[in-house]
Amino acid sequence: MISKTMQDALNAQINLEQYSAQLYLAMSAHCTGKSFKGFAHWLTVQASEETAHAAKLIGFLLDRGGRLELKPVAAPPTDFGGVIQVFEQTLAHEKSITGRISALFEQARKEKDYASEIALQWYVTEQVEEEAHVGEIVDHLHAVGDQGGGIWYLDSRMGKRGKV
Ligand code: FEO
Repeated sequence: MISKTMQDALNAQINLEQYSAQLYLAMSAHCTGKSFKGFAHWLTVQASEETAHAAKLIGFLLDRGGRLELKPVAAPPTDFGGVIQVFEQTLAHEKSITGRISALFEQARKEKDYASEIALQWYVTEQVEEEAHVGEIVDHLHAVGDQGGGIWYLDSRMGKRGKV
């Protein structure tokens, strides 16, 4: 049986993953509004990934006999600036999620909750991948700038991201 503290922490993380999905959907709509359909597509796929992250945590919590307590999901902003700023904000958000996953992992360790620790390892690895991937996009965006043909080329490449 999972501890109450770990249950609360996992419920909070589930809410954050759901917020991440909302945030990326809002960013996607923002990019669509600027006719960057490829960036918008990438962010929609990312939103689906976040929903899957939440679902995976829900499954784990229930398998441990925990109680799912869904809370209202905060409304994301509606304006994110230019595309470079959108992805800089994405990277900053992923870094903050990494911090939360590290804190959860630390708590599992402190409680000697080995099952949670092992489940959270997947998220630790996933965050390394997410930060690296978004960091690369930010670097490419800085390299091409937000004017000229380069950004449209990047947009078409981003539109090729496969579905989750
Ligand atoms: Fe679920 Fe992008 O971290």
